[in-house]
Amino acid sequence: MLPGKVEAAFNEQIRHELESAYLYLAMAAWFDSAGLVGMARWMRAQTQEEVTHAMRFFKHIVERGGRVHLQAMAEPNSE
Ligand SMILES: [Fe+2]
Repeated sequence: MLPGKVEAAFNEQIRHELESAYLYLAMAAWFDSAGLVGMARWMRAQTQEEVTHAMRFFKHIVERGGRVHLQAMAEPNSE
């Protein structure tokens, strides 16, 4: 079992990781719209990496008998 403060911090970190993924995805969209397909591809790769980080925390919480609480994310800047 995870102490409550630790579980809360891990849940917050999941949000940070997913917000990073969302921001990279917004940048991928911008690069795609500008015809910069190589940069867009690199940003999508970063998106996947951040999702992987989030899922490591997700898995750890579950394995320790905790509860994952997904939090609201801010809209990324698309410009
Ligand atoms: Fe990360």
